[in-house]
Amino acid sequence: QAAVLTIDGPGGAGKGTISRLVAERLGWHLLDSGALYRLTALAAIRHGVALDDESALARLAGELDVVFLAEGGEGRVLLEGQEATGEIRTEHVGDAASRVASLPEVRAALLQRQRDFRQAPGLVADGRDMGTVVFRDAPLKIFLTASAEERARRRHLQLREAGVDASLSSLLKEIQARDARDMQRSVAPLVPADDAVTLDTTSLTIPEVVDRLTALLAR
Ligand code: C5P
Repeated sequence: QAAVLTIDGPGGAGKGTISRLVAERLGWHLLDSGALYRLTALAAIRHGVALDDESALARLAGELDVVFLAEGGEGRVLLEGQEATGEIRTEHVGDAASRVASLPEVRAALLQRQRDFRQAPGLVADGRDMGTVVFRDAPLKIFLTASAEERARRRHLQLREAGVDASLSSLLKEIQARDARDMQRSVAPLVPADDAVTLDTTSLTIPEVVDRLTALLAR
């Protein structure tokens, strides 16, 4: 079995950026599991499948025709041969993703596909249930978190760079609502694995977090 490092945590804690940088530094593969839920949601929208039709959504998830292209580290993604990189990041698809992610049959349909990413020399797996469900035997599990206020501030900056002026207080409310939904759902709720190391990034820079994770791995 190839090595695996799991990085779970709430939205906006920096998992995506950190996972990519750690994978690059180690020369390991990267699994963005949230992208699979987003792609399932996008496929449903494109095919006109209702977001509460659990068995149809599970079938779609099981047959998902996805290609991840790593280019310059940023990585593009194709769904059924069509560009999906920008579209899966929209608020609309994100909302739909969180709905399909609450369906047990969809989660089951994506399980093996996620495990298939585990290949030599190793895998960095980014998500919500990487350490608790998908790679329960991972030797190092990280729970990456940051205060809701800090996550809202980071999102605000990110949006401003993209030319979107959102209010900080409404972003904070959205983040708190999403945290509650992720932690309270009945399947794969967002909790740290018993053997996870929790890292609070509220007052850490990105390079500091990457350094701490690589140091933990070298132990
Ligand atoms: O991390 P990201 O925002 O891309 O995740 C999209 C959606 O998929 C989120 O609503 C999250 O709850 C869900 N998700 C999940 N399990 C994962 C990764 C993401 O339920 N392992």
